[in-house]
Amino acid sequence: MDPRLWWYLARVGGLMSWWLLSATVVWGLLLYTRVLGPRTTTARLFDLHRFLSVLSLVFLAVHVLALVADSWVDVGLPQLLFPFTSDFRPVAVAWGVIAVYLLLAVEVTSLLRRRIPHRWWRYVHTCAFAVFALGTVHALTAGTDTTVVRWTAVALIAAVVFLAVYRLLAGRRTDDPDTSDDDPRHRPGEDGMAASPRPQAGAATTAVAHRPGREVVVTQLRRAADDVVAVHLAAADGGPLPAWEPGAHIDLVLPSGLIRPYSLCGDPGDRRTYRIAVLHARGGRGGSAEVHALRAGQPVAITGPRNRFPLVLAEYYLFIAGGIGITPIMPMVKAAAAAGLPWRLLYGGRSRAAMAFADELLALGDDRVRLVRQDTDGLPDLAAALAETPSATAVYSCGPEALLTAVQQLITTRFPDRHLHTERFGPPATTPHQATTPSPAGEFHVELHRSGRVLKVPADRSMLDVIRQTVPDVPSSCEQGFCGDCELRVLDGIPDHRDTVLPAGQRHRRDVIYPCVSRAHSPILSVDL
Ligand code: FES
Repeated sequence: MDPRLWWYLARVGGLMSWWLLSATVVWGLLLYTRVLGPRTTTARLFDLHRFLSVLSLVFLAVHVLALVADSWVDVGLPQLLFPFTSDFRPVAVAWGVIAVYLLLAVEVTSLLRRRIPHRWWRYVHTCAFAVFALGTVHALTAGTDTTVVRWTAVALIAAVVFLAVYRLLAGRRTDDPDTSDDDPRHRPGEDGMAASPRPQAGAATTAVAHRPGREVVVTQLRRAADDVVAVHLAAADGGPLPAWEPGAHIDLVLPSGLIRPYSLCGDPGDRRTYRIAVLHARGGRGGSAEVHALRAGQPVAITGPRNRFPLVLAEYYLFIAGGIGITPIMPMVKAAAAAGLPWRLLYGGRSRAAMAFADELLALGDDRVRLVRQDTDGLPDLAAALAETPSATAVYSCGPEALLTAVQQLITTRFPDRHLHTERFGPPATTPHQATTPSPAGEFHVELHRSGRVLKVPADRSMLDVIRQTVPDVPSSCEQGFCGDCELRVLDGIPDHRDTVLPAGQRHRRDVIYPCVSRAHSPILSVDL
């Protein structure tokens, strides 16, 4: 046997461990920045992060064991346990030894993450940067593969520094609405809160069947709570349905032609079935009653899924749901639980019997789920729930307007460092930018830039309505200006913003419009259609 076999093995193990460790750090940074876009906390993304770190440990073990077995270079177990005791490049080896101890601390606290205070885990996890730095110095100074290590180190250091700086800057931007170029619905507005509004079960939309949809079949109807039915849908051709992530919704095209948006509340990993849950809204406009009248085997159609309420990565989540507002929240809770992230759920309802999926949620952790029944407990103590969360908590809330308003006011006045994401059943209560009465609607023209067609928008019709005569598949949901689904890019002209999507600080924008309610100040408006 080649006497240098163990030495070669030690080098391969060391290099692989360092590369995998670096990949773990880079992937972790990618997860916690928006370089990949507004990612959700799917278990798969975190699994890869963990997989890389475990693989790094495996190769680290190979590195250490091979060094102990090797006689080519005299580095024994005592030298690997105690820094600065090695005869071979003592300082260079010491950086590696210290990095191993820090790496073990990071791994152990990650394993104990659910059992230790979150801030302990976070502080120790920050040491991953030190592990990367020490490991890189160790690889550069202790190894003998200088060329490949040097160039790899340059690339990895550049990637880590870029992503770390990006994360810092991105973090600042979320607190500065005037300088951010992000989607206004997904970041704080003038009051420091984010909103991702979209209508929910029973929302009073005025949509009618403008669009053909994907044909699906009702496979199951099940009572989920008082007046709430869970509807399972499958593709009519038996094939897989489009992928979706927590917070997404579909538009259900009912047999009458009515279109209603409903949040998906099933399992995103199940591509064969969609689940929605619909509250029968007494005195509504008929959409929910029609859903409750559906029968198993009945064909309907859907469009979407679309996601205006994405679950962004955060280190702590507080979910607040009221009534049927639990539907978009439930997949989020499951995603956070599957990812091992700390979360709490405050779920209020008229009574226990009216609270859909309560048992399913309690099964995720009854110490994290607080059910508040209005008939016996009164209203949820929102202030207490918020007070128990650490700063920078992502607060996701969906439910009646009164609930959302209360959460919003509390965060504005007492918890400004929490980040609020809401989904509404209807337009928000009057906001500062709506306090004034809009000017009377006048006639104007809209140019569809790609085709060059110019359409007249009479005073008594919406721009969306007119555009759909030519482009029938322009998406929409609420058609009341609060969900953002109908967003169009403006290429020329001056929009007259009448929506509640844009926060007050952005109502001067000329690059975007929500045509279901907004109009034009200029005689003609050119849109990217
Ligand atoms: S459809 Fe909701 S904002 Fe236009």
